[in-house]
Amino acid sequence: MVIVGNWKMNKIVSESVKLATELVAAASSIQNVVFAIAPSYLALAKVSDVVKGTNVKLAAQDVHWENQGAFTGKVSADMLKDVGVEFVIIGHSEQRTYFGETDLSVNKKVKKVLSLEMTPIICVGETIAERKAGQLELVLSAQITGAYAGLSGDEAQRTVVAYEPVWAIGTGVTATDDEAQQAHQFVRSMIAKLYGDSTAQSISIQYGGSMKPDNAAGLVAQKDIDGGLIGGAALQVDSFLGILNAAEMRRQ
Ligand code: 13P
Repeated sequence: MVIVGNWKMNKIVSESVKLATELVAAASSIQNVVFAIAPSYLALAKVSDVVKGTNVKLAAQDVHWENQGAFTGKVSADMLKDVGVEFVIIGHSEQRTYFGETDLSVNKKVKKVLSLEMTPIICVGETIAERKAGQLELVLSAQITGAYAGLSGDEAQRTVVAYEPVWAIGTGVTATDDEAQQAHQFVRSMIAKLYGDSTAQSISIQYGGSMKPDNAAGLVAQKDIDGGLIGGAALQVDSFLGILNAAEMRRQ
């Protein structure tokens, strides 16, 4: 189980430090779940100091694929690694929709992050129009094929996928357990096609989209759901802890 809290563009540095400090205290007994928080770039260094040596890991919300140089506004993978980041969210639908992220840029970022021994969380998911048009599998397979282009089996094994149906993000409408399971199963079958069954079985596939304490248990009970990428519910310690507890109690 891998649970990651994506704080998106929320919380100034002092608020980020406060939430991280509360989480460290509240989640100290979580043992069976790998979990991380992704504050804004600006708060990463301070939050890193708070979570160092605890069971809370650090994640970033994006990265650039170049090492350094004239890329105004961007943050490199080296910079993230240097402050203790272990997971990097790549290809979030908000990046794809508002900031021109493509399968090609996702692929470059994934390779860069892997080269520095961090774990990319590759986000995929369909819009409601695509789902209604019967294009779920078409969209997912294009996103997966694009993200993994040129990756070796060993590299693929070090990735995490987040299935986030765009229509469920921030809307309060969650995919049903069955809808989510079907999409996850399809994603796993795509990975199996590319890298074989054992790699596909070893990769964690997170669900994201209005995951809350009251629907988390049902989702993580599904065969192919190995965790969650949490937005709104990660912004308060109680709701994030509720999800962590649901994941912790899932049959191992
Ligand atoms: P919500 O949990 O707010 O729907 O956001 C999900 C998400 O986009 C996580 O990356």
